[in-house]
Amino acid sequence: MMQTVTLTIDGTPVRATKGSSVLDAALECGICIPHLCHVPFLKDTGACRICIVENVKNGGASVTASCTLTAQEGMVIRTNTEKIQKLRRNIAELLVAQAPNSKAIQDVAVRCGVKEVRYPFRNDNCIQCGRCVRYCTEMWRANALGFVGRGKNRRVEFPFATRPEFCKNCGSCTLYCPMSVTPCGGPMKRGEESLCGKCESQTVMAPGMIGACVRCDLGKGFQCTRHML
Ligand code: FES
Repeated sequence: MMQTVTLTIDGTPVRATKGSSVLDAALECGICIPHLCHVPFLKDTGACRICIVENVKNGGASVTASCTLTAQEGMVIRTNTEKIQKLRRNIAELLVAQAPNSKAIQDVAVRCGVKEVRYPFRNDNCIQCGRCVRYCTEMWRANALGFVGRGKNRRVEFPFATRPEFCKNCGSCTLYCPMSVTPCGGPMKRGEESLCGKCESQTVMAPGMIGACVRCDLGKGFQCTRHML
């Protein structure tokens, strides 16, 4: 029989499969914590930090990524406190600044309540979420992609910067990349980047946002089932 644990998320008791993450437990019961690097069937690495929550214990609360936090019996989680909203907005702004041409990232940022981005745009076209690398490694066991370099020079690359023969040409690295959904207005011109969020359906929902799903393209393209509700 499947073992379960009961935790409290935003004041609601939630039953989750033992061993599942807090993010999965929340999504399962309709509490949509914004997430970006998470893919349901791949190992979570906590790369984007957008899914942060407060884990309340011993009279205090620690901030941690919910996709890498295992749900435990009696756990108390807060997903939408003012502190979390503020931190999450900041993380979302940084992600947009890093890759302003990603519609998926724009959607998530809008969902987090970001109205403008205070950081200079870097146009890296990659936020190093590792979705492509993990898919290639875990689903195909191809290892045709990996991270190279350190610090500012860290990037996703083929071995020796050349597509290897053992690449299956499956195209999944592109399919699962947050950059693969182009913005509504098409790619932004360098120097004229902005937070898009022009889609009426999303901006209308942006001000409240508490627990709301904006049916972002991230969900549509990347298998979060919430967008279908
Ligand atoms: S979805 Fe959890 S850190 Fe990216």
